[in-house]
Amino acid sequence: MKKMLKWTLALLAMVVLGACGSSNESTGKSASNTSDSQTKTAGKLAAIQEKGVIKVGTSADFPPFEFHTLVAGKDQIVGADVDMVNAIAEELGVKVEWSDTDFDTMLASLQAGNVDIGVSGISATDERKENMLFTDNYYVPKQNVVIKKTDMDKYTEIADFKGKKVGAQKGSIQEGVVQAQFTDSQLVAIAKIPSLVMEVKSGSLDALVLEDKIAASYVAQNEDLVIADVEVTSTDDESYSIALPKGSEDLQEELNSILKKLIEEGKIAEFVEKNEALANEKAK
Ligand code: ARG
Repeated sequence: MKKMLKWTLALLAMVVLGACGSSNESTGKSASNTSDSQTKTAGKLAAIQEKGVIKVGTSADFPPFEFHTLVAGKDQIVGADVDMVNAIAEELGVKVEWSDTDFDTMLASLQAGNVDIGVSGISATDERKENMLFTDNYYVPKQNVVIKKTDMDKYTEIADFKGKKVGAQKGSIQEGVVQAQFTDSQLVAIAKIPSLVMEVKSGSLDALVLEDKIAASYVAQNEDLVIADVEVTSTDDESYSIALPKGSEDLQEELNSILKKLIEEGKIAEFVEKNEALANEKAK
């Protein structure tokens, strides 16, 4: 009986190994020490290249990184993140398919694997790292408070916002900034940044927390708004990174090496500068 079991197991092992051997033949590579999980993650980059398309999730309400503009009369998403993605896609030899949603929706759909990467000025926080992967950072922002120009003298420190309504984009780290630092204020979280901006303009919100370049762009487009002379910081890691669903380690590695090159060549800084001009020009 024991002997029979031994033979059955040996036979089974042969069948399994045989199956592995034949599937490796097609790639021409020996995978003798490739574990199952490695085989799985090694496929993400190849799958994208095979399809010829990379699906990118974003929330295009974030000038100069991603925003809508008319190019030859046609609505298009442009920005520093868009230029960066185009440079990456060129390296990978694929086309780009954008999916533009609310910021919090984008993060959820990335985790569900509905897009290949999320590029949306996404801060690589520890909390998010529990549910997704991040590349190395490509931009380090600061936090700013946007208020009405006529309120300039009213708000000179955080304490002045006591009992006031302070806005932040839903699902963004700015929600945490308001909660942690504007402890005597009421946080109002709204899905899209233009809606938050409208509320500040109309006076239904007293202030809005945004990152530096984005605050500057909205202020450039709205003469009645200004950046308050109030210092705010984030306790989370604010730096922007490309986000990926878990299990995309091979793509993450490839993106890191492309990003490294783009940063070293000064391309990212160039993209930010070019699109800042574009976003502010739009206002004139
Ligand atoms: N950096 C902030 C965060 O990751 C805000 C990002 C918002 N991005 C956008 N495209 N609206 O939470």
